[in-house]
Amino acid sequence: MSLLFSIEEAPNTDSSKPHQQRFTRPLKRTGIDVQIPSKWDDLPLVSEDQHDSAFVEILAKSGKSPNSPIPLIARYSKPRPWSLEELDACVRAHEQGIPVALMSAALNRNPQDIIYRLLDVCHASEKVFHEVGLGCSQWTPEIKALAKDLFDAGLTAWRIGALFGVDFEGVEKALFAGRTDYGHSKRNPFAICTDHKQQINRETLQHSRTSLQALDAFAGEGRFAALIEDLFPTASQVCIEQNPDTFERAQNTRSWASQTRWILDNNIQVMKQLAATGEQFDIVDLDPFVSCREQIDLTWSLLKNASSLFVTFGGEYRRSFIRTNRQAIRRRYGFYDTALSNSEYLEIVPSFFLGWLSSQASKHGFVFEVERCVRYPNNCRFWLRMNRREPLTCQAWLTEHVAPELNGFRWRDLRIPRFSELRAKAPKNTRAKKPEVCSTDTPQLVFEL
Ligand SMILES: C[S@@+](CC[C@H](N)C(=O)[O-])C[C@H]1O[C@@H](n2cnc3c(N)ncnc32)[C@H](O)[C@@H]1O
Repeated sequence: MSLLFSIEEAPNTDSSKPHQQRFTRPLKRTGIDVQIPSKWDDLPLVSEDQHDSAFVEILAKSGKSPNSPIPLIARYSKPRPWSLEELDACVRAHEQGIPVALMSAALNRNPQDIIYRLLDVCHASEKVFHEVGLGCSQWTPEIKALAKDLFDAGLTAWRIGALFGVDFEGVEKALFAGRTDYGHSKRNPFAICTDHKQQINRETLQHSRTSLQALDAFAGEGRFAALIEDLFPTASQVCIEQNPDTFERAQNTRSWASQTRWILDNNIQVMKQLAATGEQFDIVDLDPFVSCREQIDLTWSLLKNASSLFVTFGGEYRRSFIRTNRQAIRRRYGFYDTALSNSEYLEIVPSFFLGWLSSQASKHGFVFEVERCVRYPNNCRFWLRMNRREPLTCQAWLTEHVAPELNGFRWRDLRIPRFSELRAKAPKNTRAKKPEVCSTDTPQLVFEL
C-alpha cells in the first residue's frame, strides 16, 4: 500500500489472499521503446496544447503553470491498448523499486491498471508485489485545495496525482471523502449511480413482454445483459463490447445462455451488419461512457414497434464546462450557448438532447413516451417507450413536445430529477441495507396546460 494513505477499494495487493488472474490475452510488441525514469524530475513534460483549457485556467488562477508529465484531460478518456514493451518497462521498474505513481506518470496510464498488470505478472512468476509510495511532501494544503477544484471540474484523481507528484490513492481518498453531495461514506459514488441505473433498468423492464430480443450495444461487463437473462430466460440478445479486457471480464462473470450472443467489436460495425440483415429488437440499450450520437443514427431501423430504447447522455454532457465540448454538443445536437454558466448549461442541455432525439425519432417514423429519466452527476439516462406512427402523427407529436431554440430542439418542460433528489427521498436506514428501495420514484414529464 501507499506510504501516504490506505484505501477502501484497493486492488488485492495482499499476497496472502488468492489472486485472480485479470488479463490472459497476450500483448502485442509495437517496436516502440518505453523508458520509465527512476526520478520524478526526469519525467518529460507534455506541451500545454494537450491539456483541456478548463484545467489550465484553474491552475492559472492559483498562479501555477500547467507543467505536467501527462495531458490534463477530463474523465473517461478512451483506454489505450497495452504494449508488451510497456508491461516489460513496468516489470523492470517494479524490480528497481520505482513507485507506481511514477510509472503511471511516465506511461500516462491509470496506476490501478498498472497495479493489476503487475499483480498478474508477480503471481505468475511467484514474486511478491511491493508498492512503493511517493511520500507526502508535495501534498500541501495549497495543493490539496487546488486538487479539489480540479477534481470538481472533472480531472481524475490519478491525473491529479501525476500532476502534483503524489500517490493517487491519497488524492482519491482525500477528494472523495471531502465530497458532501453524494451522501455515502464508503463506496465510490459512481458505483452507487450505476447501481441505481441498474435498478431502474430492472423496474422498467419488469413491464416488458416475456419473449423478446435485446440489443446491448455498449455491453461492458454485462450487468444489463445479465438482467435481461434473469428477467426473461427465453430472451435472445446481442451484446457488443469493444474493449478486449472488459469483454473478457464479461465472459467470466457468469455462464451465459446460448441465446446470448457476445461480440467483441465496435458496435458501429455490428449495428450496420444487423441492419443489413433486417434484424429488429424489442429493447435497445445505448449506455456509453461518453457519447452514442453515431449509434443513435443506426438504431432506428433496428427498433420494432412498441419497443424500449434506453439511452445514456454520457460524459459529453458532464464535461460541458469546457468550451470545446459545448462546440462538440453543437455539432452533434445543434444546441449552442456560450453565455450560460456551467450550472445553467447543465440544467438545460438534457432537454436539448431529448429534443434532438425526438426530432430524429419523428424523422424515422417514431414517437416516444419517457417512462423514466434521471440526471446523475456524470450522465443523464432516459428510458423511452417507442411507437411507430404515420409521418403526419410524428410531425404533430414533435410540434407538441419540442420547440426549436438556440440552434437546437428543446423538449418542453422536461423535469428530470437529480439522483441526489431521488436518494434524499429514500429512508436512510433502508438505503444502506436495501439499495433497491432508493430508486422507486417515477420522474414525471410535466406538460404546459
Ligand atoms: C457504461 S459501460 C456499459 C455498462 C453496461 N451497459 C452494463 O450494464 O454493464 C460502456 C461500455 O461501452 C464500451 N464501448 C464504448 N464504445 C464502444 C463501441 N463503439 N463499441 C462497443 N463497445 C463500446 C466501453 O468499453 C464500456 O465497456
